[in-house]
Amino acid sequence: MSAPGAAPAGRSAILPTVAAEIRRHGAIPLDRVLEHALYDPATGFYETGGRAGGRAGDFLTSPEVGGLFGAVVAEALDRWWRSMGAPDPFVVVEAGAGPGTLCRTVLAAAPDCAAALRYVLVERSAAQRRLHAGKLRLEDPALAFAPVDPDTESPVPGSPAGPICVSLAEMPRVAGPVVVLANELLDNLPFGLAQRGDGRWYEVRVDLATAADGVDRLVEALVPLAPERAAVLDRLAPDSAAGARVPLQDAAQAWLRDALGVAGPGGRVVVLDYAATSAELAGRPQEQWLRTYRAHARGGGPLDDLGLQDVTCEVAVDQLALVRQPSTLTTQADWLRAHGIDELVTAARATWAERAHLGDLAAVAARSRVTEAEALVDPDGLGAFLVVEWT
Ligand SMILES: C[S@@+](CC[C@H](N)C(=O)[O-])C[C@H]1O[C@@H](n2cnc3c(N)ncnc32)[C@H](O)[C@@H]1O
Repeated sequence: MSAPGAAPAGRSAILPTVAAEIRRHGAIPLDRVLEHALYDPATGFYETGGRAGGRAGDFLTSPEVGGLFGAVVAEALDRWWRSMGAPDPFVVVEAGAGPGTLCRTVLAAAPDCAAALRYVLVERSAAQRRLHAGKLRLEDPALAFAPVDPDTESPVPGSPAGPICVSLAEMPRVAGPVVVLANELLDNLPFGLAQRGDGRWYEVRVDLATAADGVDRLVEALVPLAPERAAVLDRLAPDSAAGARVPLQDAAQAWLRDALGVAGPGGRVVVLDYAATSAELAGRPQEQWLRTYRAHARGGGPLDDLGLQDVTCEVAVDQLALVRQPSTLTTQADWLRAHGIDELVTAARATWAERAHLGDLAAVAARSRVTEAEALVDPDGLGAFLVVEWT
């Protein structure tokens, strides 16, 4: 095992599952460490209370800013539904649904497609799935996918009217076309790391080392990257300087393949996330695009405090394009404008002007929409996220 680069040590107790895997296999890819740190059923960050949200959460996402984001998504769902010929049922799968806030706010906006809507929340973490029932009326999945009459292609008589919401741990296998949405999911899927070295690419693995104080610590260990993977990085990030790093997005690519299969012909996959190209990421220090969070503050290094902090990575969007070239790619600010955020804000301003003197709930909600919009389209924040669509 060679280690030409820096090898920062992981502070804090090592998760036993991580230590056991390294003792068994030798140095393991970072993806494996993150799998344990984020999703281990007993000790993973997302299984032990970590989540998106305001005071109860660790970081703020667009749905958690307020109801406006969900209202724009509702508008987009209506447009897609109409462009698909207003199917009933209209199946929307939200992958990485977190505590269920996007679903709740979409329904609160009362979209025209509501009666046809089958909204499937897919959330890996059991702890977060438990939160869905507190926010939404959930139904048995068998009801969500009520049988369709093969002659008329409409639901068999007696099929319940929507919106129907179900909460699942995994992507459903349903007949398409389906809209698959993922807000800030891909940045949270485990990823590997590659580092440019002396004229070649290395993979950054994670090993155990015993320090002078006799305590085992996690350390980075570089191994030559498999030639076919190195060839891809040579193509995507050809001018990378020695020491440059890029994420390896195997899990995000696998998720996209799966999502495209679920969407089916005529369906759509929509990913909203912080993202950049591999070359852009290689040109920036790792600390900028591989970040950790807990309780609304930045955490330590990615090997520190495993299970106690979120570990997230800007998505290398060109690596997703290797699975399938996206149909459109736009900033979140432009996407929200294209789907009516300005009109919703204009309406909110009018409500505020009418009702400010009353100071009632409607007035306060209207005023909040104006500030929510500023956050959602902020070019230095959420507005700079990318929205990538495959249709
Ligand atoms: C950053 S949070 C985003 C939550 C929500 N979409 C939002 O925008 O507030 C990512 C969520 O994805 C979930 N997750 C991770 N991998 C997943 C997978 N393969 N399938 C479904 N959910 C997953 C995590 O448990 C976590 O709740």
